[in-house]
Amino acid sequence: MTFLDLIHKKKHAEVLSREEIFWFVDAYVKGSIPDYQVAAMLMAIWFQKLNERETLDLTYAMRDSGAIVDLSDIPGTIVDKHSTGGVADTTTLIVTPIVAACGLKVAKMSGRGLGHTGGTVDKLESIPGFSTTIEIARFKQIVETVGLAVVGQSQELAPADKLLYALRDTTATIDNISLISASIMSKKLASGADTIVLDVKVGNGGFMEDEVHANQLATMMVAIGKKAGKKTVALITDMNQPLGNAIGNSLEVKEAIEILKGAHRGDLQKVSIELAAQLLFLEGKAATLEEGRQKAHKSIESGQALGRLGAMIEAQGGDPRVCQDTNLFPAAKQIIEVKSPKSGIIQSVETAEIGRAAMLLGAGRLVKTDTIDLAVGIWLHKRVGDQVEKGEAIADFHANDMSRVAEAQELFVNAYRIESGDQPPKTLIYSTIT
Ligand code: URA
Ligand code: CA
Repeated sequence: MTFLDLIHKKKHAEVLSREEIFWFVDAYVKGSIPDYQVAAMLMAIWFQKLNERETLDLTYAMRDSGAIVDLSDIPGTIVDKHSTGGVADTTTLIVTPIVAACGLKVAKMSGRGLGHTGGTVDKLESIPGFSTTIEIARFKQIVETVGLAVVGQSQELAPADKLLYALRDTTATIDNISLISASIMSKKLASGADTIVLDVKVGNGGFMEDEVHANQLATMMVAIGKKAGKKTVALITDMNQPLGNAIGNSLEVKEAIEILKGAHRGDLQKVSIELAAQLLFLEGKAATLEEGRQKAHKSIESGQALGRLGAMIEAQGGDPRVCQDTNLFPAAKQIIEVKSPKSGIIQSVETAEIGRAAMLLGAGRLVKTDTIDLAVGIWLHKRVGDQVEKGEAIADFHANDMSRVAEAQELFVNAYRIESGDQPPKTLIYSTIT
């Protein structure tokens, strides 16, 4: 059997065996089959699909292509969370200290932002001194003693995913439920946690634009997690507007701190409470989801959640005083008000375009090698459903380099649909897949 035979098989919608899938992933990582053949296979998969068994085998093959983090020697269960990514989606910095304050241990490996979406590693790097590249032994020690640690994903984890993702990205084969599920879950399974909560975003700023596909993705990922022996649950949540009000790295950490102080509420806080409640319930720290929500709220009111964030920041070399004094974050030189071009109710926003406007200000990267400005971004004053008057500020731009502010402003304002009339219907949490 040659790889050409396997491409033929999949092209004709035949099912690949476990051995065939493991062989192909291993051969690709070793460099013994060329990109063009793997590209053809990916396109065959895109058209003919993988069934659940094939998807699970692909996930395992990708997981086994590199190192697997062993957290089994840390007493108690270890939890992890993952978001499929969005704009102003800072839930990690809120959920993880909340559940740590409630007695869970969190070991989280995060990524950097790319395109219109942000990444937790970049956000954390806006905290003076904070390191996201710590040795695995120290990572485990912090999880054990502080209850949470967040680091950048090790280069050794799931190398097959890095190769396959790059190829998918350039062959229009990203958007396949099985390929996405295997990509995400191979990394989750390799990072060693026992329990995983997934936040699958749906809407015009997320990976999945409609609820049907978000459901399929969530269902597939939960099935994989469970088959692999992990407690897994997924929430499907809205990304038809930025989740929080802050877009941009230090601004987002500031917003997370304001929420952990109990000084700020809203959609970001609500989704974070819900994700935390799911973890507390799954791990038996709460008898019901409602009790989980209450415990999450209490950890904020008591200051314990913010205390956990501060302890993690200190353990990872950062300045924990940022939790009390957000003026210690890098700040942009200019704050520019962006005004509404008309009066009415904000009916909808193009979320990805808002992310792109923040990117133009320097908050994000177009390609992986771009450098970003941790201080810049956008702070929204208005959300979908809000009434605005012509000339009223809908957002503040925090900028250092003024050269692209006008372009960002045009993109941003055009992303808003403001009309007179009724309040648009809104859903924040669509469903839970268990
Ligand atoms: N995120 C990933 O890590 N992989 C995908 O394929 C899509 C989103
Ligand atoms: Ca353990």
